[in-house]
Amino acid sequence: MELGIRNVQKEFGGFTALKDVSLDIRSGELIALLGPSGSGKTTLLRLIAGLDFPTGGNVFFGDEDASLKSVGERNVGFVFQHYALFRHMTVEDNVAFGLNIRPAATRPPKHEIKRRALELLDLVQLSGLAGRYPSQLSGGQRQRVALARALAIEPRVLLLDEPFGALDAQVRRELRRWLREIHDATGHTTVFVTHDQEEALELADRVVVMSQGKIEQVGTADQVYDNPVSPFVYGFIGDSSVLPVRVEHGEVWFEDRSIGLKAHNVPSGSAKLYFRPHDIELLDGCGGCIAGTAGVSRRVAGTKRVELAIGGAGHRVEIELPVDHPAASRSRIAFRPRRWKLFQDDIEAPNEVALPQPVAA
Ligand SMILES: Nc1ncnc2c1ncn2[C@@H]1O[C@H](COP(=O)(O)OP(=O)(O)OP(=O)(O)O)[C@@H](O)[C@H]1O
Ligand SMILES: [Mg+2]
Repeated sequence: MELGIRNVQKEFGGFTALKDVSLDIRSGELIALLGPSGSGKTTLLRLIAGLDFPTGGNVFFGDEDASLKSVGERNVGFVFQHYALFRHMTVEDNVAFGLNIRPAATRPPKHEIKRRALELLDLVQLSGLAGRYPSQLSGGQRQRVALARALAIEPRVLLLDEPFGALDAQVRRELRRWLREIHDATGHTTVFVTHDQEEALELADRVVVMSQGKIEQVGTADQVYDNPVSPFVYGFIGDSSVLPVRVEHGEVWFEDRSIGLKAHNVPSGSAKLYFRPHDIELLDGCGGCIAGTAGVSRRVAGTKRVELAIGGAGHRVEIELPVDHPAASRSRIAFRPRRWKLFQDDIEAPNEVALPQPVAA
């Protein structure tokens, strides 16, 4: 089922939780809504589910305007972070619940409901636990029952709001992989909310990055990581370092020196230079580069993160070095970003630099 979110607005009293949100979701796609707390992820998911209604704009299911349809009419399955299973029901009855409460006319016969519940428990790798009660399951097992229950009604769309949020990292990783497999096996259109970028980047076909009720960027994991369209996305996805710079006649300047980066087609003016701490080249001399005094360093897995104080105002950026690199013990380090992006100050839209070319030192 394709979903179309068109110019959706959601106000709560005087507060605007979603501002003119538009998004097209393809049939069978696995989409992650990613953003900090309060950015509007749950609000958007609830509008898709029909648990709440937009104050402006429309939600389309295929060609049909579903904006004012109820949850039941939309036929969606959802799982929330703290999704309570019915404690007094067995695992099997929990899974069968959505089918058992259907009106007689559309309810499958008892043996068919049982067959389907057991088949789903098999899919979520819980066969054998059908007779247990929720209190006799681990957290990860409960989340899988919740997912089986959401799938039981054969939803047109599956909506998941941080379904693994409460679980420990190891279990989350396993469930993540497993969710991707289920998604591929069932082919449901799935919208998945998370504020864990690793989860979003690993799991989703496309990631929707949200901030303050707006969509900042929609793209594949590679697109949002390699080509962030705004300072927010650059800073939110992956690690980043930022330096306030000036563009003058196609060159990037920091304080009183050119740092050896060409910025053709970028108008002169102040800007922020963004780069990834690992994506740099170290230099011996500094004819046109960034040089700073090494401060605190910390070990991150197989690498060393060094904080450098740069220039008179002591701006701090982080760079990443191999642990055994000789520069790691130097007090003065010179480098140049290999890939980078400029965002001009005072302008909302980014001014992209298509092919950054370092100037020969
Ligand atoms: N029923 C409501 N009444 C008033 N404000 C609300 C209501 N629901 C959500 N909000 C506000 O809308 C904004 C977005 O909330 P939402 O729950 O969508 O955020 P979120 O991105 O899911 O955050 P989190 O990661 O913390 O779950 C928040 O500022 C929240 O306080
Ligand atoms: Mg939320």
